[in-house]
Amino acid sequence: MKAIIFDLDGVICFTDKYHYIAWKKLADKNGIYFDEEINNRLRGVSRMDSLEIILERADRTYTAEEKEAMAAEKNASYVELLKEMSPADLSDEVKNTLDELRNRGYKLAIGSSSKNTKMILKQIGLGEFFDAVSDGTNITKSKPDPEVFLKAAEFIGENPADCLVVEDAKAGIEAATAGGFKSAGLGEATEHPSVTYKLGSFKDLLEICI
Ligand code: BG6
Ligand code: MG
Repeated sequence: MKAIIFDLDGVICFTDKYHYIAWKKLADKNGIYFDEEINNRLRGVSRMDSLEIILERADRTYTAEEKEAMAAEKNASYVELLKEMSPADLSDEVKNTLDELRNRGYKLAIGSSSKNTKMILKQIGLGEFFDAVSDGTNITKSKPDPEVFLKAAEFIGENPADCLVVEDAKAGIEAATAGGFKSAGLGEATEHPSVTYKLGSFKDLLEICI
């Protein structure tokens, strides 16, 4: 393995609660039922695909223009919440592990569906850390399509077979496998049948990437 491609949300930092608050506000305003269980289904899913999942509970259909406006409104609330993030939202475990992996000579990249990736990295103090960032702004197909990881591999000039993808979402493991990457899963991602390595904790990467 020459490089490691990290998902952002749920791997490097935790934004689930902010997504939840922002989607809940939008859902409540529109009289649509939404809860934490539905929020869990949004993990790794793009903004527009997330909205479609939320609208499964709506009692009317929405036009494309209305959907665009709803997604923009949710994102505006979400971005307000992201402004509260700081380097304190990056755990010592993640920071120390990343530093050690860099010392061991691995190229390190991000592969995230989020269009807010660069803002989040900046907020937590990793704005300049990664060798490449592939995110929601440079893809047309969201996970489980492998595009975001294939772009990350291209940005760092490595073959997928030489890269490890680290993911917390099943859709992310699916994407990694489809792209020809090895994968390391955290949380629910460990349950995916094609996951290569199951991690109990982020620092366990140091036992795989030696
Ligand atoms: C992923 C999250 O990283 O980004 C999803 O796991 C989210 O929950 C997706 O929907 C898109 O995020 P954004 O910031 O572009 O709305
Ligand atoms: Mg994730």
